Amino acid sequence: MSAVNTTINTAINITDAGALSAPLKTPYFMIHEDKLLRNLEICKQLKDLSGVKLVLALKCFSTWGTFDTISKYLDGTTSSGPYEVQLGHETFPGETHAYSVGYSEDDVIAVRDIADKIIFNSVSQLERMQPLLPASSSVGLRINPEVSYAGQDLADPARAYSRLGVKQAGLTVETVSKLDGLMFHMNCENKDFVAYNRILNTISEQFSAHLDQVSWVSLGGGLFFTYPGYPVAELALALKAFAEKHNVQLYLEPGEAVITDTTDLVVSVLDVVENDKKTAIVDSATEAHRLDTLIYNEPASFAEATEEGEHPYIIGSCSCLAGDIFGEANFPQALQIGDRLTIKDSAGYTMVKLNWFNGLKMPSIYFKRADVNGVSGKIEILNQFDYQDFKATLGQA
Ligand SMILES: Cc1ncc(COP(=O)(O)O)c(C=O)c1O
Repeated sequence: MSAVNTTINTAINITDAGALSAPLKTPYFMIHEDKLLRNLEICKQLKDLSGVKLVLALKCFSTWGTFDTISKYLDGTTSSGPYEVQLGHETFPGETHAYSVGYSEDDVIAVRDIADKIIFNSVSQLERMQPLLPASSSVGLRINPEVSYAGQDLADPARAYSRLGVKQAGLTVETVSKLDGLMFHMNCENKDFVAYNRILNTISEQFSAHLDQVSWVSLGGGLFFTYPGYPVAELALALKAFAEKHNVQLYLEPGEAVITDTTDLVVSVLDVVENDKKTAIVDSATEAHRLDTLIYNEPASFAEATEEGEHPYIIGSCSCLAGDIFGEANFPQALQIGDRLTIKDSAGYTMVKLNWFNGLKMPSIYFKRADVNGVSGKIEILNQFDYQDFKATLGQA
């Protein structure tokens, strides 16, 4: 069903490393292809050993200028809204999966001819929207398996009163007979294979009859299989056994696992103020450029900081929000105005959430290609922003 995808990377400028020898202006994101490739090789290993297909969760990372690298390893994309579906279709070869917590009729009409799989969140959406789809559509339904693994309630898909998916009690054989697939998403940053396997076995047992009725199953994302030391081969065996038992094509929808630890947000110190503790104010803000630091109260880490550093600082945003700080850390030297700080692991759920709060300068986005045969990879400019971009989001000139 996926029509031919349009050309990838049409909007990218490629810049010689030499041309960028002057320091890049902060704030900026630097995505490192060599680190991306490390994660992607693990994805390949998992696929090869298990037969599972991997679709990138665009909600986590949609920076499509990197998709020529990622798409060589993964099978397609999955999405949470109609624009992500279109982006996946246009920029990422392979399958385009379309899921939404709530489709409007216009949404379904927009995605029905470009999505290879359309996944509904509720039986009522399925019943209302399925008649709008061509008979050839591959249709899925999200299930809430009532078991999950998530560090915070905010991110727990099986939390009390969850609106995400249909519970077993709401699922009938008749409903499943209208479906080609089922989607389960119940993990968040799960590094614990034993806990994951337990959930997998529970799903296999509890939903056995329904699983045997469909041809594909997506087990969602939230699985941190690129974490150092993760038992990838054991995971692969467990997934293979599940797929064989129920005779289904299995999918995973990794986001974070693909881009973890690949990207820095580089900022500059603008000022140092003191109120019992020293705060270095930088030219960025969590609320605008690294929102999850704030939402999940998870402090950022800084490449320049050391545990034994004798100079402690709060790294503070330059937004107006009183509690908007990146974190606290110790540095080997006193921070000076103009110093650069590298905020590590800043890709996932970050670039997709950038906003113009306070009219702050939007970070540029760069992609450092991997070195080949000792030759330093080029830095590509994926995007740079200016005042006109800010203005254009708020009205027409
Ligand atoms: C349905 C679904 N699939 C995949 C993902 C990707 O999860 P992660 O980035 O943790 O792998 C999410 C994240 O919320 C999700 O809701």
